[in-house]
Amino acid sequence: MRHAIITGGSSGIGLAIARQLAQQGDVNLSIIARSLNKLQAAQEKLQAIFPNPQQQCLTLTADVAQRCEIEQAIASAIEKFSAPDLLITSAGIAHPGYFQELSLEVFEQTMAVNYFGTLYAIRAALPAMQTTGKGNIVMISSGAGLLGLFGYTPYSPSKFALRGLAESLRSELKQVGIQVAIAYPPDTDTPQLAAENLTKPPETKLITETAQMWTAEQVASTILRGVRRQKFVIAPGLEMQLLYRLHSLLAPVLQWYFDRLVARARQN
Ligand SMILES: NC(=O)c1ccc[n+]([C@@H]2O[C@H](COP(=O)([O-])OP(=O)(O)OC[C@H]3O[C@@H](n4cnc5c(N)ncnc54)[C@H](OP(=O)(O)O)[C@@H]3O)[C@@H](O)[C@H]2O)c1
Repeated sequence: MRHAIITGGSSGIGLAIARQLAQQGDVNLSIIARSLNKLQAAQEKLQAIFPNPQQQCLTLTADVAQRCEIEQAIASAIEKFSAPDLLITSAGIAHPGYFQELSLEVFEQTMAVNYFGTLYAIRAALPAMQTTGKGNIVMISSGAGLLGLFGYTPYSPSKFALRGLAESLRSELKQVGIQVAIAYPPDTDTPQLAAENLTKPPETKLITETAQMWTAEQVASTILRGVRRQKFVIAPGLEMQLLYRLHSLLAPVLQWYFDRLVARARQN
């Protein structure tokens, strides 16, 4: 039986990945998040679709921004099952707003969860993965980790930081048989996006409405296909592919276009 650890596995993209792995019949799941209620609801859903009675789903409460908590959760998951064959770091937060109106705590917390929460999880799982000399790690960045957007000053830098981590770590871990990947999902219909829409400035709304919205299941299946193909970059859909591959060429055009949208939002 394989073992997958998913931070943020109780909701949205993380839960969709857990669901698709659950259906494969040969994976034990460890899902990590803060709310026990959401974890238990996810566990029930996952157990209901296990095709194999041997499969198990472990739930672990931890705040990924608290190093000791995430280290403890990952140690418990490894003790219960084994070193992970797959580690997905999907736990993340986003609080859009105007740069000067957001409190500094929002910037610090976003970096703590999105960047350090990912880093702590990887560091905690790595020693066990290195002993097996195999496995895949997938960091979940964002389209906003490829292009800075109006209203996303706390979020974009935290997702850009993951790109730096993934690109540096890829080569180091390749030497020990571990495949690192980074995913850049587009806007995806999840509880996080619904919460973001409540505080998005109108300018940001106008900009993000230009992009196609994906379902969590579509993003999850693209990510798992990327893992199967041992891809380093997983950019779901044409828009994210173009943004990833042609960023430096496209950025001035996109900035010009988005500035026009900002001006339009301010006229309304
Ligand atoms: N939805 C999008 O449009 C979109 C697009 C690109 C990238 N992403 C990225 O995809 C990932 C998943 O997002 P989603 O849209 O699926 O969000 P979601 O539905 O809100 O799920 C987020 C998950 O992370 C957990 N989480 C949040 N903060 C945590 C913390 N400090 N410690 C541990 N767990 C924490 C949540 O559970 P608890 O709240 O119980 O802790 C939940 O399980 C995020 O990294 C997000 O930035 C999302």
